[in-house]
Amino acid sequence: MGRKFLIALGGAMLTLSMAACSGGGAGGSGDKSGEKPSDLTIGVSMPTQVSERWIADGNAVKSKLEAKGYKVDLQYAGDDIPTQSQQVDQMITQGADVLIIAAIDGTALNSQLQAAAAAKIPVISYDRLIRGSKDVDFYVSFDNYKVGVAQGTALLVGLGLLNKDGSKGTAKGPLNIEIFAGSLDDNNTQYFYGGAMDTLKPFIDDGTLIVKSKQTTPEQAAILRWQQETAQKRMENLLTSSYNDGSKVDGVLSPYDGISRGIITALQNAGYGSGAKKLPVVTGQDAEIASIKLINDGVQGSTVFKDTRLLADQAVNAAEAFLQKKEPQANDTKTYNNGVKVVPAYLLPFATVYKDDIKATLIDSGYWTAEEVAAGQAKK
Ligand code: BGC
Repeated sequence: MGRKFLIALGGAMLTLSMAACSGGGAGGSGDKSGEKPSDLTIGVSMPTQVSERWIADGNAVKSKLEAKGYKVDLQYAGDDIPTQSQQVDQMITQGADVLIIAAIDGTALNSQLQAAAAAKIPVISYDRLIRGSKDVDFYVSFDNYKVGVAQGTALLVGLGLLNKDGSKGTAKGPLNIEIFAGSLDDNNTQYFYGGAMDTLKPFIDDGTLIVKSKQTTPEQAAILRWQQETAQKRMENLLTSSYNDGSKVDGVLSPYDGISRGIITALQNAGYGSGAKKLPVVTGQDAEIASIKLINDGVQGSTVFKDTRLLADQAVNAAEAFLQKKEPQANDTKTYNNGVKVVPAYLLPFATVYKDDIKATLIDSGYWTAEEVAAGQAKK
């Protein structure tokens, strides 16, 4: 399998990562099996409330743990690394019994993890792998490389180069595309980008797809902290630098719905979506309600739905296993090397959502209501 892009970005990220720390691994060694859930506190550290997926994750983990009787200390870090470090430090000093952490920067929590290990607090890395530390005990996430493949595939399907069943579509190139990637300090970025680029590469190599800006490296494509405004700015710059000759963008690979909305705003401001200038096909991720409305209205092409309720279940299962001095059940013990060790993981499946899938995948499963989709806003 061609993993050139994955390896390229992996190298870039490794240079960011810190050296391994020493200290005793937690590994569930603090036996809490005799204690009542009401005497136990789980610290839950989430990156940001700007993106609604993390609010849903935080709420789901908290309510599922509370339903089992545990106390929960849920904190959001406002996408600020020092704030997250401080919050995790505080959870440790206040005697958390397990930590569940979705890191902002996957390499920035090493000293916290060392302190957790010294206090025998098991650490569960939530959705984003914490890198450069041997004190990460378990990882719950989705198959992130496959998410990238799904994003690349959704772009090809939207462009008519492939059909949904994988067969060859009727469209012919050359078609102009641009590439966006997530935040380079998030370990998932390399998997999304790598999976998508491996999928697009044959079409780029044979000239069917043209990245007109020539900006294809992860460093060129990355959007720090996954920010919508940064993505809008980059798309504006791409339009000015590469499309002021009357040519048009046909598709944009986007790794996350917030980034997709920034891209779409830039395109609309440049006249796309009105008259003959059709909006390009834009991919996404997270099934954010504002983007689901855009997909329903034919503005955004697709998203990737990762059910945060199921991820929360896995995090809760892992936390309970550690508290009962057991090893959580992993279904992947090979893929997620954090630079120091391979972290055992439980990876969940996900679904690509095009307009036709909104009802069956999102409404019928109770993730969003039909009213929320129509309004483009969450009720609660
Ligand atoms: C998550 C994605 C999310 C992104 C931005 C990633 O780590 O896996 O689901 O879109 O962060 O929040």
